[in-house]
Formats: sequence, structure tokens, C-alpha cells
Amino acid sequence: MKIAFLGKGGSGKTTAAAAFTRYVSTKRSLVLAIDADVNVHLKQALGIDFGSDILELGNAYEDIIEYLKGERDDLGDAPMVASTPPCEKSNFVTVSLDDPFIRKYATVRKNIAFLTVGSYDKEDVGSSCYHGKLYSLAALMHHLIDTEDDVVIADTTAGTDNVATSLHLAYDLNLFVVEPTEKSTKVFHDFVSLSPELKEKTYFISNKVRDDRDIDFLKNKLPEDRCLGNMSYSPYLKRFEQGKKDALEEFDKTQVQVWESVLKQLRLCDKDWGKYMEDLKASHSKVSKKWLNPFYSMSVDKQVETNFQYGSADIYSEKT
Ligand SMILES: Nc1ncnc2c1ncn2[C@@H]1O[C@H](COP(=O)(O)OP(=O)(O)O)[C@@H](O)[C@H]1O
Ligand SMILES: [Mg+2]
Repeated sequence: MKIAFLGKGGSGKTTAAAAFTRYVSTKRSLVLAIDADVNVHLKQALGIDFGSDILELGNAYEDIIEYLKGERDDLGDAPMVASTPPCEKSNFVTVSLDDPFIRKYATVRKNIAFLTVGSYDKEDVGSSCYHGKLYSLAALMHHLIDTEDDVVIADTTAGTDNVATSLHLAYDLNLFVVEPTEKSTKVFHDFVSLSPELKEKTYFISNKVRDDRDIDFLKNKLPEDRCLGNMSYSPYLKRFEQGKKDALEEFDKTQVQVWESVLKQLRLCDKDWGKYMEDLKASHSKVSKKWLNPFYSMSVDKQVETNFQYGSADIYSEKT
């Protein structure tokens, strides 16, 4: 299952994604944590030393596309792009330390495999936008065959920008981190009104709630049935950010309940591979008509003609 942490900048997405990763690592043999924000903070927030030798997905777009393309021969002259739906001959990725993609791109410490889209370098200045970095991740996600027990955690970019690419189609659960403020609650509502079809799999946790007035504010602003708990305000986070490493452990002890509830909901989410494929085809057609076809001067969207369905047992068993 794939979960995305969303919300306004500063609401606590990275803090929450990191804390949930640490929690899941106590419950599963492997957890895949992805920094999907170009303002790369997840690595630090995890409080684990991953070293500096980290391959950034955002800088490896061509290699990643080439790998995922595998043996497919249905594309003709058309390029494979991030939203291209996979087919039988594609290379898929599984949440396993034996998976070649994970072996190449993930940095593994204990049972946490970490991937990052990476941030800008000098080359990107004035010539790139962060969607470019996210295309590598979108391509990966559309080829990542996870089971119901797998947990894939993505710390995403701020605001509603997540619906701008096909990436959002991959997530089984969208978890908003919401502070008791107008702006923070508005991002949740904007997301749901932009993509009403995502409403069913969109939940929130509150953060930095300090008193009853905060609780009442959130009750008035957000649908209670979408609430999965509260990440309580904690002075330990500041201590951690001031360099006190064990403060994170103290913080984690105070948040167990919220992560139990999020993990439970994640397990309950319906993973509908058939719908995912349909949505991906529709998204690919849309983006092709809008700019891929004119850009490449060819019909890139003919690729949606594939009859391939996700969830084919063959593909998964082959890889495990
Ligand atoms: N529950 C909390 N208690 C205290 N400070 C928090 C809490 N959640 C987040 N913070 C602090 O708020 C700041 C922004 O959090 P961060 O997770 O980086 O937000 P985002 O990823 O949404 O931009 C950080 O300094 C973080 O330590
Ligand atoms: Mg962040």
C-alpha cells in the first residue's frame, strides 16, 4: 500500500512521514520511504544516518525510464514517458531488498529503504521545475507492484500541486497533516474539490493542536469521519532539531496511537488495480493531447491501447 503525506508547507508532513516510517519499521520487515519533495528534508527528519552517497531519482530519469521499459516493443517510435501505462514486457519493481531497482537506487539502513527525488543543482537553475524531478518518481510508482502488507510512504510537496502530474493516482491513501489554521484546512478542501474522485481515499491527522479552541476550530472546518488522529504538539522535536538525537525517541513514544490508527486505515483501503490502470490511461491520454503529442509530433497516447492489467500474479511471483 502506498500512502502520501500532504498538506500546507510547514504543517508537519515531513515530521509525520518520518515518524510513521519509524513506526512501521517496528511492525514490518521492510518499509520504503520516499522523499518526494524537492525541498528534501525527510532524510534528516528520519534521524538515521544514510550517508551522503545517495542516488537521486530526479537526476536519473532516462536510466529509470530505460529500466522500467524493459523489453516492451509496443511503443514504436514513441517515447515512454512518466505517465505511460505499463505492459507485460515492462520491468516492475517490488518492495524487496532483492529487487534490482531497490538495490540500485535505495539507501538501506536496518529495515528502511530510502529513495529521494533529490533537489536542484546548479544545472537546474533557471531551466527546470520540480515536476521534472517528480517524473522519475511517477514512472517508478506506476511500475511498483506492492502487496497489501507492503508499506510505501511518500513525503510530498506542499499544497495541491500533487494533482498536477499522474503521480497522485498511485497512492492508496492521501493523508493530510493539518494545523488548526484557515490556510491549513483550506489546502485539504482545495485538494478534495479539485479531485472529488480522490475524496474516498483522503484522510487527515491534526497537528500542533494546543488547546480546546484548536480542537473546536478543526471540528468546525473538517469532516470528522476523515480524521485518523492527532499528532500532538511536542517540544522534543525542537530539541531534536537542536541536535539532541535521543529526543526523537521521546517524541515517538508520545505518538503511537495516531500511527496505529493510520496503519489500520491503510490496511483497510481498497486497492483497485483495475481502476488504477483505467485512471492512468485517462491521465496519459489527457497529458498527451494537451502537450506530449504536439511536443513529439506524434501520437504518444496510442500507448493506452494496452490490454495489460496490474495485479497479474505472474508478474509479482516472477519478481519475488
Ligand atoms: N507536533 C509537532 N510539535 C512540535 N513541532 C512540530 C510538530 N510537527 C511539526 N513540527 C515542527 O514544525 C516545523 C515544520 O514541520 P515539517 O514537518 O518540516 O513541515 P512540512 O514538511 O509540512 O513543511 C518543523 O520545525 C517541525 O519540527
Ligand atoms: Mg516537508
